[in-house]
Amino acid sequence: MASGTGSHGHGNKENQDWSKILGEWNTVREFKNIHWEGTFWEYLDIVKQDAGVTRNSFQRMYDMVLGYGTSSYIEYKKTIVRYKFFEDPIENGKDAVFGLDVPLMKLVHFFKSAAFGYGTEKRVLLLHGPVGSAKSTIARLLKKGIERYSHSNEGAMYTYRWVDDTGSGILGAQTSVRCPMQDEPLKLIPESMRDKLIEELNRGNKTPYKVEIKGDLNPFCRFVMREFMKKYDGDWVTVIKKHIKVERLLLSEKDRIGIGTFQPKDEKNQDSTELTGDINYRKIAEYGSDSDPRAFNFDGEFNISNRGIVEFIEVLKLDVAFLYDLLGASQEHRIKPKKFAQTDIDEVILGHTNEPEFRKLQNNEFMEALRDRTVKIDIPYITKLKEETKIYEKDFNAAKIKGKHIAPRTIEVAAMWAILTRLEQPKKANLSLLQKLKLYDGKTLTGYTEDNVKELRKEAIREGLDGISPRYIQDKISNALVSDKAGDVGCVNPFMVMNEIEGGLKHHALIGSDEKRREYKEMLAVVKQEYEDIVKNEVQRAISADEDAIAKLCSNYVDNIKAFTQRERVKNKYTGQDEEPDERLMRSIEEKIDIPESRKDDFRREIMNYIGALAIEGRTFDYKTNERLHKALELKLFEDQKDTIKLTSLVSNVVDRTTQEKIDVVKTRLIKNYGYCEICSTDVLNFVASIFARGDVKKRS
Ligand SMILES: Nc1ncnc2c1ncn2[C@@H]1O[C@H](COP(=O)(O)OP(=O)(O)OP(=O)(O)O)[C@@H](O)[C@H]1O
Ligand SMILES: [Mg+2]
Ligand SMILES: [Zn+2]
Repeated sequence: MASGTGSHGHGNKENQDWSKILGEWNTVREFKNIHWEGTFWEYLDIVKQDAGVTRNSFQRMYDMVLGYGTSSYIEYKKTIVRYKFFEDPIENGKDAVFGLDVPLMKLVHFFKSAAFGYGTEKRVLLLHGPVGSAKSTIARLLKKGIERYSHSNEGAMYTYRWVDDTGSGILGAQTSVRCPMQDEPLKLIPESMRDKLIEELNRGNKTPYKVEIKGDLNPFCRFVMREFMKKYDGDWVTVIKKHIKVERLLLSEKDRIGIGTFQPKDEKNQDSTELTGDINYRKIAEYGSDSDPRAFNFDGEFNISNRGIVEFIEVLKLDVAFLYDLLGASQEHRIKPKKFAQTDIDEVILGHTNEPEFRKLQNNEFMEALRDRTVKIDIPYITKLKEETKIYEKDFNAAKIKGKHIAPRTIEVAAMWAILTRLEQPKKANLSLLQKLKLYDGKTLTGYTEDNVKELRKEAIREGLDGISPRYIQDKISNALVSDKAGDVGCVNPFMVMNEIEGGLKHHALIGSDEKRREYKEMLAVVKQEYEDIVKNEVQRAISADEDAIAKLCSNYVDNIKAFTQRERVKNKYTGQDEEPDERLMRSIEEKIDIPESRKDDFRREIMNYIGALAIEGRTFDYKTNERLHKALELKLFEDQKDTIKLTSLVSNVVDRTTQEKIDVVKTRLIKNYGYCEICSTDVLNFVASIFARGDVKKRS
């Protein structure tokens, strides 16, 4: 066959040379690199060069996380380290974890302490938190991270296979069998020779860890080793030379190599073989005995996870007998397969459990034992609005919701409600829950210092452990996206999502009482009110985003305050007459940012001093550098234009042409600068118009 260059008559003259494009990925070199195979002696050379290849599972986990780098920031006067690894650089942020820097720091400390053998390596790591608080996400990240690490140069690790073409039958009918628990090759070294060799390997070891050989071979390899030793009259060197090949160990969750997951099924139906392996009945015939380790499948979750990590989902659902196995596994680093002696393991044991499940067992005496042998890390819900918003922005970004639009602020209001449900009522009577939310989000509020906010956090004991889970919000946003109201090329606005949220409350399984339900509904009303304020502000800004007009207003204001502070008169640009400074104009601007009459002199002088200082340096004043003045000008301009633009006429549906033109300008600004689309910009203008219309009515009555 010709290798196909346009010979199929599709008229495509520029067929691509796929083999070349794909060849550039150079899979061969990569393949050869990660599929290295060599002798045991070559492996010792590798260890001598880089002792890091012998690191245990905790050491690798710690180094892996650290390898992605860190950054740090100060919060409540404490330095918080952020580990980039948890932003999921491996999959472009797919499993990124937000707003949990402090618990994640504890998690990394656990690995660090375990890596250096300070004790946590003997504990079960227990992630505990309310449902949907990212426990599984964190576990997924760690599993994926350690898998990727084993494929990299820094994370290279090794195991061995037995080979035999002598026809001895020691490997049964096979000529090559990989160590069934992918053990570290150094374990092949007999106890009596270890100390010397370790000393040698540690000489010049540049890693922070000592090379160690911990534990014995697994039952299969111990048996095979014994048989070969018999065959060669105890000549270990010959056994190793003739029958051992060392190879790269590549962890793989899919292939169940070094990465395992265990989820208890039916409580009555739990079987220890799922954890520690089972007899292979077909092979018993071949080897003649059920205590021959060659007739055993080392495929329990603990076996296959050796050298990596095993995750226990809903760990407290495990049968109590198993839980003791689990505690033993972590404390002794040993498991007990049926009919065989204890078997050494080296793996991170990570369990998670949600808050309701944990509470159920709280009074169980077994929990005493468990508490003592676990390191529990609380993974709470996020209580910072900015961080919570990131979860949904990740889920519902433009690429994922193809063809549909989510109106600005939609995600924000949903996140806001979620957080309100999680916060504890502040003890201070004059602080509302919404204000507390804003303080947590880093906003300033008169009378509240950073210390006060820290106090607030401290007084709330269960904050972040109750309330609505991100999963509920994710579902409701999804519902809104597919509902008829959003249409095929439609746009989802905050009201649609809030309606979905409200509708779902009736059936929410985790809301215990009608009282709670009512409380959550009231919070929704709070969020609606807040949304009104936000969009009112946003539309106002869009209306007054006319920079020329602001600049003109600014220069007018500055002329006036200059005259005022220097006790001069101002020249009227139209009449050419000198006039008194326009007090009404100045005040109408200053009032927008709450400058009281008694402070106006200071404010005006401050601005003039600033302008004067700039002038000395030969620079001119730009109102944008003064945030307060900028805001005051915008608000004033809006007030002036509000009536000329007749936004409220939108409500009555009779819009004349000039008004329509003005409104269209604002609409275009909303679309261009504020992320609105054709649909939601119209919606939001109508909505804000109705608020103003309401306001007018209120004023009149
Ligand atoms: N802090 C967070 N950062 C990023 N995503 C989060 C966070 N908290 C929750 N999520 C998102 O919420 C969803 C639920 O998370 P996950 O499945 O990890 O929770 P879980 O704690 O394992 O829940 P469960 O207790 O029900 O098993 C996921 O889509 C996850 O991405
Ligand atoms: Mg989970
Ligand atoms: Zn839209």
